[in-house]
Amino acid sequence: MKNTILVTGGAGYIGSHAVLALKNAGYEVIVLDNLSNGHRELVEDVLQVKLIVGDMSDRSLLDNIFSTHNIAAVMHFAAYIAVGESVTQPAKYYQNNVVGTLTLLEAMLKASVNKFIFSSTCALYGVPQFIPLTENHPQDPISPYATSKWMVERILSDFDTAYNLKSVRFRYFNAAGADPNGLLGEDHEPETHLIPLVLLAALGKRESIVIFGTDYPTTDGTCIRDYIHVTDLAQAHILGLEYLLKGGESEVFNLGNGSGFSVREVIETAKEVTGKVLKIEERDRRPGDPPILVGSSDKARQKLGWRPEYPNLNEIIRHAWEWHIKRHK
Ligand code: UFG
Repeated sequence: MKNTILVTGGAGYIGSHAVLALKNAGYEVIVLDNLSNGHRELVEDVLQVKLIVGDMSDRSLLDNIFSTHNIAAVMHFAAYIAVGESVTQPAKYYQNNVVGTLTLLEAMLKASVNKFIFSSTCALYGVPQFIPLTENHPQDPISPYATSKWMVERILSDFDTAYNLKSVRFRYFNAAGADPNGLLGEDHEPETHLIPLVLLAALGKRESIVIFGTDYPTTDGTCIRDYIHVTDLAQAHILGLEYLLKGGESEVFNLGNGSGFSVREVIETAKEVTGKVLKIEERDRRPGDPPILVGSSDKARQKLGWRPEYPNLNEIIRHAWEWHIKRHK
């Protein structure tokens, strides 16, 4: 066994896929998750790693974890993630995503753990000034969710300067898909993400699919996003971890495929994959949504040697569909 990695939010969607990748790479893993959105059975039964149920804002719990385990690095996935909700409930997002993370970082410093992998977001760029977005694009987040991630990135930069805390910040584009072997998938409650919502409609679990906004300045009027397979994201985390464990300096990397699909195109692809007829409802824009987010991940490719294995949207949706069928059988 290699080192022990603490994974916060490891019972959630992206976190659980990262735990699987860590296990496959031979790491010892401990998951800290308050189960507000995560799934106990994923960690204990499917992944079979140690689960500590608790909150990252519980400083004495964190001190206890760091003093009783030999932790080499922390992968931090625990966060609230719904862009729309963050606009109406910003306090919830700043409290958990910023204050909670600060508590975690302070506990790490006390325990002399100085390697941190952070789930950030391309949403912190705001409305793009150019496409594809590169890591040096100006940052101007337009939702409290994105601002909360931006704030943590700033904290990480200051903590490196002051305390030598080394971090890799991954700015994800839109995580989608599911473990190709069908072990894990996306299961939020309530679900707010486009692809799982479309698939739930295809399964008959929802009456229709709502398109939020058809008057965006895009080819078909709907928002364009860069969908990246969750297993490819997870693999990037292994590469980022190895980079830090080898003594790498703090870095920030975009993680996306570099091609954009509109909401209508996603729905069309899901129709092809599922073979179902889907009922569509067009509504007003959802607050906090930039019209287009498509990124360049050249830096991660060059510096980490990252190569997405499943860049095809059809395949991304197919993996998600296979998992949804299994989950709702
Ligand atoms: N959308 C719909 N109908 C729905 C759900 C979503 O039209 O029922 C639209 C949204 O308005 C948006 C697009 O589909 O234009 C994608 O929305 P998602 O909710 O699936 O994803 P977001 O782009 O809002 O956010 C996701 C993650 C964030 C991350 C961001 C990066 O939730 O954590 O991708 O782009 F920051």
